[in-house]
Amino acid sequence: MELDRRSFLKTAALSVGPAVIGARGANDKLHIGWIGVGTRGYAGLDWLHTAAGEDVRITAICDTYQGYIARAKDRLKTIWGDVPPTYNDYRELLADKNVDAVFIMTPEHLHHDMTIAALEAGKHVYIEKPLAHTIEEGFEIVRAWEKSGKIVQVGTQNRSSSLYKRAKELVDQGMIGDVHFVRAFWYRNSLDNDPAWRYIIPPEATPQNTDWNRFLGPAPKRAWSPERYFQWRLYWDYSGGISTDLLVHQTDIVNYMLSKTVPLTCTASGGTYRWHDDRDVPDTLSAIYEYPGGLQINYSCYFGNVYYGYGEQLCGNEGTIEVMNRQDLYFTPETFGGKAPAKVAARKPIHLNGKTDFGERDGAINHFRNFIRSVQGSEKVIAPPTIGQEAAIGGHMATLSFRNQKRVIWDQSANRYSLA
Ligand SMILES: NC(=O)c1ccc[n+]([C@@H]2O[C@H](COP(=O)([O-])OP(=O)(O)OC[C@H]3O[C@@H](n4cnc5c(N)ncnc54)[C@H](O)[C@@H]3O)[C@@H](O)[C@H]2O)c1
Repeated sequence: MELDRRSFLKTAALSVGPAVIGARGANDKLHIGWIGVGTRGYAGLDWLHTAAGEDVRITAICDTYQGYIARAKDRLKTIWGDVPPTYNDYRELLADKNVDAVFIMTPEHLHHDMTIAALEAGKHVYIEKPLAHTIEEGFEIVRAWEKSGKIVQVGTQNRSSSLYKRAKELVDQGMIGDVHFVRAFWYRNSLDNDPAWRYIIPPEATPQNTDWNRFLGPAPKRAWSPERYFQWRLYWDYSGGISTDLLVHQTDIVNYMLSKTVPLTCTASGGTYRWHDDRDVPDTLSAIYEYPGGLQINYSCYFGNVYYGYGEQLCGNEGTIEVMNRQDLYFTPETFGGKAPAKVAARKPIHLNGKTDFGERDGAINHFRNFIRSVQGSEKVIAPPTIGQEAAIGGHMATLSFRNQKRVIWDQSANRYSLA
């Protein structure tokens, strides 16, 4: 039975075309192991069902907090109809022959070890962004992936959003002319009693039902800290903060829309101005990137005012394309004070909405589906590790610039940075 299933999947992977897609019997389905059922991982259990419920089964889950395992089991029963075996140690899940591919939805500092172990175990991998916690770790993942022959998708899901695809088409059609300047930003705010990124610590969590050492993994050893476990984004040991958590999405999608890869330089500045607690990472960050070919990205993020929300604004010399809140795309031609050349004056403004025009909240479900179809052999993966690494390098450059108070220069031929 098991051999039949595997040879079916192999045949499916070799044949390219919609013929291999469609409702399958339980034995023909791709078997998914799920590592990390926290905030993103828990939501993803539903999204995968929407994306490819007919084509996959979740056959194992792993998490180091028993409370989240219990919550995921409930949800799996409701949405998927059955409850798979559960693991505390991801290596045991990877040894499970009933798993073909894994979704890794764990904190940033664990991505490297988990992804490489999964590839070595012969699994296809969906790894959340950022690809890894450092630039060097990211390159190790890229090399392991190249050797493995497996499919890897990095969770920069904007690339799968129809809205951003449309924005790229407009750029490629020349609708905004040459683009040398982009503004991108992500602003948030919350009440004084709800500090940014101080996510809820489940009151039931204790060192007995939470595997602190497995959470730490390669990070420096420390005494149990529920803040560090559940609010890991606030500490350098586990996260690059704003740069690798939020900014990577936006530099990645600007790269995509403008066909760019890695910036030449980054200068970042910021501080912890709004939230005064024991956090390491800034709550205010601005980063200026210079790219080959003459492009500047002016990025800012602040956790003390939400008025301007989220956006990428591509400022072309013939027009502007803005994608706001990953939901609204606006194209506005330049008017040149009434003296626009005829070809520019003929262009009409455009407004598209993700939900009403494409039926999409964001790109996540499409991104999951693209991963599954790539494993099945009918599509090409949209964000392989090379692309995920390009996005992550931009994020790491901002963290390095901020932490060292220096300009960071990227040497593309040597794949190395230096500080100036
Ligand atoms: N693509 C996006 O838009 C997006 C959005 C949010 C988060 N993310 C990414 O998703 C990942 C997870 O973020 P989150 O917000 O869900 O964090 P989270 O803290 O809510 O969840 C992390 C989960 O990993 C578990 N975990 C910790 N150590 C583990 C280990 N050794 N083995 C197994 N499980 C372990 C935790 O118990 C927790 O359930 C991060 O990489 C984050 O950047 C991506």
